[in-house]
Amino acid sequence: MNYYFITGSSKGLGKALVDLLLKNESNFIYGLSRTRSVKHERFVHAAIDLSKLDEVLSFQFPTLADVDKIVLINNAGVVGDVKRVGDIENQQIIDCYNLNLIAPTILMNNFVAKYKSLDCTKMIINISSGAGRNPIDGWNVYCSTKAGLDMFSQVLNEEINIDNTSFKVLSLAPGIIDTDMQSQIREAKSSDFSTLEKFIKFKEQGDLIDPNVTATQILRFVNEKELQGKVLCSVRELG
Ligand SMILES: NC(=O)c1ccc[n+]([C@@H]2O[C@H](COP(=O)([O-])OP(=O)(O)OC[C@H]3O[C@@H](n4cnc5c(N)ncnc54)[C@H](OP(=O)(O)O)[C@@H]3O)[C@@H](O)[C@H]2O)c1
Repeated sequence: MNYYFITGSSKGLGKALVDLLLKNESNFIYGLSRTRSVKHERFVHAAIDLSKLDEVLSFQFPTLADVDKIVLINNAGVVGDVKRVGDIENQQIIDCYNLNLIAPTILMNNFVAKYKSLDCTKMIINISSGAGRNPIDGWNVYCSTKAGLDMFSQVLNEEINIDNTSFKVLSLAPGIIDTDMQSQIREAKSSDFSTLEKFIKFKEQGDLIDPNVTATQILRFVNEKELQGKVLCSVRELG
């Protein structure tokens, strides 16, 4: 069996990944999110608020048998308070760092500890963003969480190479996707976010990608060795 652990499995990109993976009878999925939207015999839901670190710390990866592949997809994320530094609510800073960066880091740490001795394909896919590689005003916290995820992935890759632990780690920018996150971005004030108009136009012009299309692209990175050459990658490489 192939086992997938997917955070943010209830909607948007995470839900599209779950729906696509469930089409293959060899896939079993653990979804981690606050709400549940999938019911399936090969889907187990863990109700967890990933911005609350005590809940993250209490999540235990299960002992698995008969494993061909295990994949952790750190997908849950929020853009957070789109505001200038000085105007951001401090609790929003804490919640956004917890959800976007600290929770994935703890999950990676526990995933590697639990499964390092398993003899199977072992992968971590961190859903990053172009915003972690290019600064966007008003998105200070979001950009820095994604940059942190990119760097953590690169350092983990160094360790994997040195220690020969046979994990594969990618930090993958998924492009612009037509999800609730984009609706939230469009609700920001232009005084807090100078490129608001550009994001409104993405929606109006039909530039936002259907999450099912993006999920298919992400699974190509999971399954095609030729796409796994660099830790920092983007669906835009697929052309
Ligand atoms: N949309 C884009 O254009 C875009 C672009 C670049 C990168 N990304 C990245 O892609 C990933 C998915 O984003 P999306 O657009 O699919 O967002 P979305 O539609 O808003 O979905 C976010 C998912 O994260 C979960 N989540 C949010 N807060 C949570 C919490 N505190 N605890 C547990 N789960 C939580 C939500 O589930 P519950 O509400 O049920 O908890 C939901 O399943 C994110 O990492 C995002 O940064 C998106």
